[in-house]
Amino acid sequence: MTRIALTVNDTPVTAEVTPRTQLAEFLREHLLLTGTHIGCEHGICGACTVEIDGEIARSCITYAVTCDGAHIRTIEGFDADALMADLRRAFAEAHALQCGYCTPGMLIAARDLVRRKSGLNRSEIRTEMSGNLCRCTGYVGIVDAIERVMAGGPSLQSAPPQGLDRNHGKPRAQAGGDRVRSWLGPAPGPVASPTPAPPRASPVGRADVAPAPRRAAPGRARGPIEVTVDVLEDVGAESRIRQSFVLPHPRDAVWRLMSDVPALARCMPGLALDGPPSGDKVSGRLEASLGPIRASFAGEGTLRRFPSDFRQVVAGSGGDPRSGSRASGSVDYRLSAVTDEAGGETTRVEVIIGYALTGPLAQFGRAGLVRDLVRRIGEALAQNLDAQLCDPGAALPQAQLGGLSLLLKALADQARAFLSRLLRPR
Ligand code: FES
Ligand code: FES
Repeated sequence: MTRIALTVNDTPVTAEVTPRTQLAEFLREHLLLTGTHIGCEHGICGACTVEIDGEIARSCITYAVTCDGAHIRTIEGFDADALMADLRRAFAEAHALQCGYCTPGMLIAARDLVRRKSGLNRSEIRTEMSGNLCRCTGYVGIVDAIERVMAGGPSLQSAPPQGLDRNHGKPRAQAGGDRVRSWLGPAPGPVASPTPAPPRASPVGRADVAPAPRRAAPGRARGPIEVTVDVLEDVGAESRIRQSFVLPHPRDAVWRLMSDVPALARCMPGLALDGPPSGDKVSGRLEASLGPIRASFAGEGTLRRFPSDFRQVVAGSGGDPRSGSRASGSVDYRLSAVTDEAGGETTRVEVIIGYALTGPLAQFGRAGLVRDLVRRIGEALAQNLDAQLCDPGAALPQAQLGGLSLLLKALADQARAFLSRLLRPR
């Protein structure tokens, strides 16, 4: 470990890092500055762009140890920057972002471009920004936004915030009047067409996967089961997450269901068994995907039961020959009887999920994403268990339990949270 001292967004920071810790990883996972995104990790896409001593740089291919003594500025450090405020507004108005994944890097690179150059035409702006890739919006809106800020023209719909200098300290180029805007889709916000958009096809050609419908028992109307993610920790090569939820059913009934491995597997998103367990052995397949990478881990597991403690542990490992990824993991759950406020019997389910991934899908190891994904899986598991307990004959089609959809929902949640921070009025 090496001790480094640097300044991040005007705040002095000291830390112990390994020689190979990326600056991007350091910012996101040590300082929780998750506005710096990681896309390719090869210096290609620009999602991880930050400023180092006033120059833009790829934080994915910069070692944190080389930044000892440097001043780093991430997207979170531009909150009071007038030029960045103009760019944010122009991006929002020109529909220059969709999922927002590329946006922090785009904004920092665009700000650098607008400070260095003015009066560029659209083709030149495209060339200058070619080091930043957007995988969903396309570049028309992005170039629109940059062109507008570079020209110093007024924003389309909103006045500048008080006290912000629109001219960014340099002579304003001739705006040339407002251009007719070329929307890439329906205009966002309250002026958008009231006509509901038609449903979009799944990007992988599958029906979009909704959480399993919850079947309340007759006469019982409850909200969704809330899942708490308590702890995320690394133990050796394995990351462990502990989560818990309370099922409104007696412990004996929950144990009967959860100790029935095929029934439990049907409630677990993305998991399919090859058949019933043979002794303490079980084999099956777990599906997971990230963007274009899809994996189907075939493997074997071992069961350990502790009925007197209402506890069961399943541990296994497997590989996906197509992506070259391997996974090992364990699920350790324990049930406790809890009496609710009305004196009814309920069951607290505490689950510890351990996992280790290698290969392309090791990208899942990013703490925030994994936490979201596991929470989603936990929520689906809790709702499905509840549905089975309310109606033991309820069918839970495997198509409704795709790990891909859960991951996309986790990504969408992260993108939505980022967008709401990005577009929050200042
Ligand atoms: Fe750094 Fe793509 S993540 S350039
Ligand atoms: Fe650019 Fe989604 S990657 S908006």
